[in-house]
Amino acid sequence: MFPLSRLVMRSPCRVLTRVGAALRLSGHALHGRPPRVYGIHDRQASQCSKPYYITTPIFYVNASPHIGHVYSAVTADCLHRYKLLKGYNSRFATGTDEHGLKIQQAASNAGKEPLSFCTEISESFKHVFQRCSISYTDYIRTTEQRHTRAVEDFWMVLQSKGFLYKGTYEGWYSTPDESFLTPAQVTDGTDSEGRRIKVSSESGHKVEWMKEDNYMFRLSDFRTEVLRWLRSNPKVIRPVKFHDLVLQWLEDDDIPDLSVSRQKSRLQWGIPVPGDPEQTIYVWLDALVNYLTVVGYPQNHAQWWTAVHHVVGKDILKFHAIYWPAFLMAAGLPLPRMIYVHSHWTVEGKKMSKSLGNVINPLDAIEKFSADGLRYFLLRQGVPDSDCDYYDDKVVKVCNSELADALGGLLNRCTAPSLNPAQLYPRFSNTCFPKEENCGKAVSDDYRMMEAVSALPVVVERHFENLNIYKALEAISACVRLTNRFVQRHAPWKLDRKEDQQWLDTILHVSLECLRMYGILLQPVVPGLAHKILSRLGVAPEERSWDSLNFLRRYEGGDCVLEGRALGPDLGVLFSRLERSPVKRKTPKMATTQDEGKS
Ligand code: MSP
Repeated sequence: MFPLSRLVMRSPCRVLTRVGAALRLSGHALHGRPPRVYGIHDRQASQCSKPYYITTPIFYVNASPHIGHVYSAVTADCLHRYKLLKGYNSRFATGTDEHGLKIQQAASNAGKEPLSFCTEISESFKHVFQRCSISYTDYIRTTEQRHTRAVEDFWMVLQSKGFLYKGTYEGWYSTPDESFLTPAQVTDGTDSEGRRIKVSSESGHKVEWMKEDNYMFRLSDFRTEVLRWLRSNPKVIRPVKFHDLVLQWLEDDDIPDLSVSRQKSRLQWGIPVPGDPEQTIYVWLDALVNYLTVVGYPQNHAQWWTAVHHVVGKDILKFHAIYWPAFLMAAGLPLPRMIYVHSHWTVEGKKMSKSLGNVINPLDAIEKFSADGLRYFLLRQGVPDSDCDYYDDKVVKVCNSELADALGGLLNRCTAPSLNPAQLYPRFSNTCFPKEENCGKAVSDDYRMMEAVSALPVVVERHFENLNIYKALEAISACVRLTNRFVQRHAPWKLDRKEDQQWLDTILHVSLECLRMYGILLQPVVPGLAHKILSRLGVAPEERSWDSLNFLRRYEGGDCVLEGRALGPDLGVLFSRLERSPVKRKTPKMATTQDEGKS
């Protein structure tokens, strides 16, 4: 006997159970306009529910979007959609990082005026995000006026508090990383023509020696405070491996003061230092402030700012986990609630790079696999603490087996008119599936499946909260397999309609209840497919929130509002099987929980 009631979940605000409705926008609803997840419930949401604010890094506009960028965005989108389902008033910001030497050089190489160069690439990011169902609520460009005002204000606060001074920076600088490096962070390398050069040991990018008069930020003053913050908040950077890495940097490495401006003669494309137009603000200080600009800094930002969560790639950890907290401490502002770090995608075992010609264009991938296919693959195979390898056949294999065959097959079987000619949500019979095992028609494995599906929301929630989205998907996929086995075991198509109608209906009821759970839980990951599943089951938009994860209420003796209700229209195949590319490759391995911690 298994009490399902103890697994019922609560959201912070019940009024917001209807916010799930907003997720109707799903994949299809995003056409040519800024995606919005809020619908008519905006005002209710902002009045009564807890704020949640999630950001992606803002993307450099020196090159077109690739799947690595999309991975950062899809990860944040998934967390945003998940928080909305949980009843939070969630805000999700993304955008483009448009200043700095790297962009100045890229525009000049392209023979374009910097702003129009930036606008072109920024638009291409927006386009990719729209095609990929990235439902951001705010899009920021660092060339906007509102951002200039925020950066100027932030600068003046740092200055008025005595954290900036004029000095001379002499040391290494990497333009591709827009980063200052200590001698210990630099090593020998060669350029594309075999000449000996100095490179960053972390990124491998070329570094140059520079000596310049500019403004310095008293970063070294904050070393102890940042350490204290990290030690007293052991979960603030996830996965823990990255938290430990930052602690190690702070404990072992030199943390010198940081140059936060460049001479205008070197860098024109940026925000001038207030009161000193011969200096331009360092692009990372400029860029990090974007997170504040979005929420209205320097006015009215307090409510959102205390709820900020950052998603970042591992390459920009130092900027977010050391510089940013130090800047915020200096400005007297609260620190991020969470920094979620993810690793990188390689392509067929190699780092993605223009020179290797292996950069994956997300639009091509969406064309081949659909937005939901690409999203599912990235989140199912993306293990945050180790790099992951992308190749087309792996996408095909994952999507075919888990979306087309397992999930699509289950939906197709259980809603087929041949098994369910009335096309109603079938009735559950406690006689066929009683609480006591061995008393009805259900067998022991059926009870085990039911336990697994009942526990699924708690499991998925835990994994989402820890940025282990792949583990959540692994758990859902395991349950889908159990439900398929349940259907296979009882072969409802072989049952006699007259004698076994109750049992047949019960099998279908249990299966549809499982599918309803999978549909609700999958909304943050594959919004289009989840919408198809839930619509086919006749689940109304306001019945799709986390609060609706009340699995199989009839088993507990409760009511099931869906029982007897007409199923929704058949929207066709859930996910069409993908063709493998003609070239034969080794059999891909699926990500499992054992992959965690591997680097
Ligand atoms: N502009 C800075 C961020 C400033 S945030 C205040 C920047 N931009 S970026 O375009 O280079 O990178 C943006 C994000 O894309 C980062 O999170 C980075 O880790 C991610 N990725 C870039 N290449 C990637 C892969 N190959 N794989 C996964 N993510 C990758 O850094």
